[in-house]
Amino acid sequence: MQPERVETEVVRVHPQKPDETAMTRAAEALRGGGLVAFPTETVYGLGANALDAEAVARIFAAKGRPANNPLIVHVPDVAAARELVTDWPETAERLAERFWPGPLTLALPRRETIPDIVTAGGPTVAVRVPAHPVALALLRASGVPIAAPSANRSLRLSPTRAEHVRRGLSGRIEMILDGGPTTGGLESTVLDLTATPPRLLRPGLVTPAEIEAVIGPIARLSALPPTATALPSPGMMARHYAPRAPLELAEDDGGPRVAVLLSQGVKVGWIALGETAGIRAPGLETIALPPEPAAYAAQLYAALHALDDAGVERIVVALPPDTEAWLAVRDRLRRAATPENTPNAG
Ligand code: TXA
Ligand code: MG
Repeated sequence: MQPERVETEVVRVHPQKPDETAMTRAAEALRGGGLVAFPTETVYGLGANALDAEAVARIFAAKGRPANNPLIVHVPDVAAARELVTDWPETAERLAERFWPGPLTLALPRRETIPDIVTAGGPTVAVRVPAHPVALALLRASGVPIAAPSANRSLRLSPTRAEHVRRGLSGRIEMILDGGPTTGGLESTVLDLTATPPRLLRPGLVTPAEIEAVIGPIARLSALPPTATALPSPGMMARHYAPRAPLELAEDDGGPRVAVLLSQGVKVGWIALGETAGIRAPGLETIALPPEPAAYAAQLYAALHALDDAGVERIVVALPPDTEAWLAVRDRLRRAATPENTPNAG
């Protein structure tokens, strides 16, 4: 479906104390079937009234998202989450108490009130309470659950700034609430609570160890080979979260590969981990990200967006260590590195 052309209004809001008039207008747009992008503590989301199937269909059209990839439904609190599901197990109660509002999404058996298009026809619905004051204000002002994927074109980088959203979706959505850069930087952890034991579907800012400290052992996702055929979650396409330029992962600091590419006259973007020896060369853009997982996650997408903007032809990333603290970052980097023609690239 080709999205209709609409005027996109960008409205600046204070990230901590969003202006009430702005929030009322955004809520009205949502209730009227409109699409509103808003900041969460992870990435910007593209919201529609989750109970309005036509509005949700416009999300899929605006993003070019395949219909088999279900959406996360955002709610302001546990009571609202419980209204969307037929079962609220003890595990959900404990996790919500510990991590909500926050970057943890729970898949639970859905109620019939949720349109099929939200869950891609599946038996579960993914719910989360976001921690961002603007997201919470929008949820409260609109009084409806908000279905919201990341506010990017399908398979592209998630937006961590309003400007990223504008560039991808301008002319396709009614409003962008600009609450400044997001602080988390990577999408929420997705956990399937209908499986026994509960199953990690997407690593994120809440780590498996943190979840296990609350509910005991969970099934981890084994590192997805890029060509995995059986996908645990419809949205777990091998290629995802990708910049325009092909991205390569280096097991070392990336320097040797960068040198080779430069010698071939390739314009290179290099994402280093912490301090680098500091190669300077014409045609090289270097971004050093902090060697600490949370700080790295917060800056990764902005760095990839910046390298795309700089027009580099290849991106080389020094792969962070293979430890659980880096699980979500390594997951996103692996997906970003998957070639476009890989089966399951969606
Ligand atoms: O941090 C986030 O989660 C952001 C912000 C906006 O909340 N949202 C986000 O949404 O990343 P999206 O649509 O880009 O990713 C949602 C992921 C996809 O991998 C999707 O397949 C999975 O969650 N998902 C959604 N509903 C599901 C369900 N019922 N069962 C299993 N996986 C589900
Ligand atoms: Mg996404």
